[in-house]
Amino acid sequence: MKILVINGPNLNMLGIREPGIYGKNTFADLLKLLEETAQAEGIGIEQFQSNHEGAIVDKIQWAYGKVDGIVINPAAYTHTSVAILDALKAVSIPAVEVHISDVDSRESFRQVSYAGLACYKTIKGHGLEGYREAIRYLVELLGHRIS
Ligand code: DQA
Repeated sequence: MKILVINGPNLNMLGIREPGIYGKNTFADLLKLLEETAQAEGIGIEQFQSNHEGAIVDKIQWAYGKVDGIVINPAAYTHTSVAILDALKAVSIPAVEVHISDVDSRESFRQVSYAGLACYKTIKGHGLEGYREAIRYLVELLGHRIS
């Protein structure tokens, strides 16, 4: 089983960026958590981070036929990008949306998610642990689908 983890703009700045909202853990810490989770679950994980909307669309299209599930934190593009929503719908790969912060308790513009419309589940406000939860959810879901 292979899962693609996509992170959108400014998530490479974790640890530096607004630590009161996103915490002090760095992007490198997140990559370590992903590796640990892959080992623990016995699956393959590929990670991709980009600050560019089109690059994220390209990566989702690339995933077609190559990965079994997608974990995506589209960051600011969550609230604006119909292109990312359409790409997720186009490939139809089971996807889970993650937000490090609790977007529901922040500005009203963060309470709209386009990408989320194509996702099985949204995990918000659980910090970096939300990624582990999303991966485990997909492993469970895909396990049931295959068997
Ligand atoms: C975020 C929430 C978004 O509103 C914001 O633009 C981000 C990060 C989160 O993980 O909490 O960049 O997706």
